[in-house]
Amino acid sequence: MNTTLTFQDAANVTASLLTVFAVDLAAGKDSEPHPILLTTSDEVATAAQNLLASGEFKAGLCECLLLHAPAGLKAARLLIVGLGKAKKLTIHEIRKGAGAAVRFAKPRGIRDVALIFPEDHALSDEHLDSLPCDLTARALVEGGELAEPDWDTYKSERKDLSVWALHIVAREAERKTADDIRQGFQEGLVLAAAQNFARGLVNEPGNILTPTVLAQRAQWMCGEAGLACEVYSTAKLEELGMGAFAAVAQGSSQPPALIVITYTPPGGAAPGAPVLGLVGKGITFDTGGISIKPADNMEKMKYDMAGAAAMIGAMRAIASLKPRVKVISVVCSAENMPDGKACKPGDVVKTMSGKTIEIINTDAEGRLVLADGLHYAKTLGCTHLIDAATLTGACVVALGYLNAGAFSNHDEIWSQFLGGLRHSGEGFWRLPCTDDYKDNIKSMIADMVNSGSRAAGAINAAMLLKEFAGDTPWLHLDIAGCAWNEEVKPWLPKGPTGVAVRSIVEWVRSY
Ligand code: BES
Ligand code: MN
Ligand code: ZN
Repeated sequence: MNTTLTFQDAANVTASLLTVFAVDLAAGKDSEPHPILLTTSDEVATAAQNLLASGEFKAGLCECLLLHAPAGLKAARLLIVGLGKAKKLTIHEIRKGAGAAVRFAKPRGIRDVALIFPEDHALSDEHLDSLPCDLTARALVEGGELAEPDWDTYKSERKDLSVWALHIVAREAERKTADDIRQGFQEGLVLAAAQNFARGLVNEPGNILTPTVLAQRAQWMCGEAGLACEVYSTAKLEELGMGAFAAVAQGSSQPPALIVITYTPPGGAAPGAPVLGLVGKGITFDTGGISIKPADNMEKMKYDMAGAAAMIGAMRAIASLKPRVKVISVVCSAENMPDGKACKPGDVVKTMSGKTIEIINTDAEGRLVLADGLHYAKTLGCTHLIDAATLTGACVVALGYLNAGAFSNHDEIWSQFLGGLRHSGEGFWRLPCTDDYKDNIKSMIADMVNSGSRAAGAINAAMLLKEFAGDTPWLHLDIAGCAWNEEVKPWLPKGPTGVAVRSIVEWVRSY
């Protein structure tokens, strides 16, 4: 999809589908819906006048109404997309609305879509403050770009229903506003491309995307983006003493990959400045190992590398946005398989840090690879750590699909991350990992077990990671429930979501 930004009169846009957003001004629950269009174009308002007067359209979130051959407009069709109550309007509704327009066009074979940059005098200043024009432009691009892919990659007869062109149409504006819109637009392109890149990785089946292939794709991306990338395998794991990571990998005929991506800011990093470590769980398929998973839904475990994909995607965006901070990503990729050589329950492994872990359940493999990944990131000089992992089913039980879990040993790093969620629109909910949970991972014969009680399962996993973060400020994201979209949404297809990419980039940019 080719996405462009123009400053022109909406009436002159010649797209197949011109989209105008609408909100409901109704004050309370009981008052009648009162939809208004978020445009200053009189021609668009006139074209939609009768339709709005009919009362058919209530401007609910992602509610769509189509008008053919709208009078007075050059576009072939006018689509009105609701964004819900005016009072509750934020950039997140705009992101969804933009996605809904693209998803509306796709099954109808409409190839070019224009979105009118939402604005109106009827909105109070209070609203316009929460909708800065750079963030609005960014949300329009992100929403449109994320809605476009359908994950039918391996169908031999693929119906091509792609939207080829997306136009963001803003009114002629004063210089400052236009510059803000342009900047937000560019950032949106970068972030959405990075997120779609991550989604593409997550979508790949386990037989295609092995650890080696994941590393190749990362290397290819780094070549394009101008990032340094090193890839290691079994020998390096042995050399570094990564006994936990190696134990997970040893049951598979596919060799593991340890991927290290480095971003250095223009002019280099100042001495003493923070170095951010992005650590990702990259299990390209998780059978559970000897503690094998039931067959039902096991195919989903191809997405057990979504944390790795999020970090690789984030690095891609970072290379373009060029924040003034050094960032190192460490991705631990392996395939978790049962085999004659596989690790077994009861095995004790020694991690790179020297701490030992008794493997109670080989299906709790994510924390094993991350234990070594986190420690390794510290040895590379990282002063702040963030990890992303599809780590526990327990986190899905606790928070469902709308919020991912967040855990931290440091309130400041969490609040810095939380601040970025207002821009990214992603849901993360903090859960505790205080020292009083430490008993849950006590082992009789080693320093800790890799799988504690069923109770507090997501916390137990975080407690193990916390041991390896040590005193370094650290944030752990358990994205098991949010990495795959099970139900099609008006603004998003089924499949990989690319969750955490935008929030991680936002966090990095806050340093
Ligand atoms: N990859 C899974 C977690 C997962 C579950 C991700 C559902 C996405 C959806 C992880 O490796 C795992 O198997 N965790 C176990 C841990 C248990 C054995 C302590 C789990 O959650 O059951
Ligand atoms: Mn597992
Ligand atoms: Zn797993």
